Amino acid sequence: MTQFNPLSSYGQNSFIKSKPSMLTGIYGSTDVFPYWVADMDFKVAEPISSELKRLVDRGVYSYEFNQDALFQAMVSWFERRHHLMLSADNFVQVPGVLSGIALLLNQFTEVGDAVLIHTPAYHQFSNLISKAERTVVTSPLTLVNDQYQIDFKGMEQQIQQQQVKAMILCNPHNPTGRVWSKAELTQLVAIAKRYDVLIISDEIHSDIIFAGHQFTSMASFDYPKAITLLGSPAKTFGMHSISNGYIYAGNSELLGVIKHQVSAMYLDHGNAFSTFATIVAYQQAEQWLDGLLAYLQQTVNWITAFVSQHINGLKVFQPQGTYQLWFDFSGLELSQQQLNMVLFEQAKMGLTPGAWFGESNPNFMRMNIATARENIIASFELLRDAIDNVEEKLTAANKCQGDRSADQGCC
Ligand SMILES: Cc1ncc(COP(=O)(O)O)c(C=O)c1O
Repeated sequence: MTQFNPLSSYGQNSFIKSKPSMLTGIYGSTDVFPYWVADMDFKVAEPISSELKRLVDRGVYSYEFNQDALFQAMVSWFERRHHLMLSADNFVQVPGVLSGIALLLNQFTEVGDAVLIHTPAYHQFSNLISKAERTVVTSPLTLVNDQYQIDFKGMEQQIQQQQVKAMILCNPHNPTGRVWSKAELTQLVAIAKRYDVLIISDEIHSDIIFAGHQFTSMASFDYPKAITLLGSPAKTFGMHSISNGYIYAGNSELLGVIKHQVSAMYLDHGNAFSTFATIVAYQQAEQWLDGLLAYLQQTVNWITAFVSQHINGLKVFQPQGTYQLWFDFSGLELSQQQLNMVLFEQAKMGLTPGAWFGESNPNFMRMNIATARENIIASFELLRDAIDNVEEKLTAANKCQGDRSADQGCC
């Protein structure tokens, strides 16, 4: 049985998202529902659990690597799911997507080199660039008819002026939920080509694509300076703490350098739990993924309808992919202090502040929606009540001020 089961399940854990010290540090309280980490609460597909149980029950852990079967399972998946023809020989396994990006930055750029990201951008990109002692260069996305777009002109200017050597592309884009179209990527590649910029394409969210949208991998472009972090079962199948990352390079020269570097550090072996669980996921959990996608879409629809009925002024950006929802609370016209009080204290919603992603407007927040809908419904009902309360207070205060100016004796 590979059906998706929407029950959230926590049990005993040390999940980062629930760590009291983290919650207190961010929200000043542990009494918030953790919508801030981009992982999921749902149980993995049954074949993944069975495979992990098989390995546990076997109780023998001799050295066991099976990358051929793993890469073959990924080749079949990308062909079936995304009509993308890949070669098993061009994959390199790394511990995770972020460690893969760090490795590529260290290998293919020099200390001080400029590396471009599209902001708002997943916060770990700037962390990795800074920690590698490279320079973060931003290319802010623009909002056109409520949709984020790459500002190609601005990006090209930044590349030229800052002498950008590499860019980290996020596709689908975290936090805005954009799935870049083939036309957009074609334009991006043309600019990269013009300035010989290495494209590191993080495609970890590539399987979380909503109906009506088409994912295009950087691996489908014939650009020799593109390296793709193709998928990872982490986001697709909810295997965040038990999966590896996978680099894909079509260019044999770059591939050779990456393989050498990864094997020189003995990083390419993974472990049997991750390997076999990943193979089974790509082979047997497709139906589960379709169930997840349908559930997530219904959650987006529910939130959108609830907000349009009850929370005037809150903008919900419709995601094309990812299970991150991006919100703009500007229309509520609250001070930052009021907004934090409403969201974190009263609605107890542990959203990720947009500032983490380089967003300068404090009214932007990200919410991870990969949790049971009951949690989301409860949170939004609290949010509606909290906003109603604050608005009533503000109206009363405004009225009071108006009355005061008319009649100094009021209040
Ligand atoms: C765009 C993006 N890349 C990478 C990661 C983390 O990848 P990993 O855990 O494999 O290092 C995340 C997790 O949220 C992400 O959103």
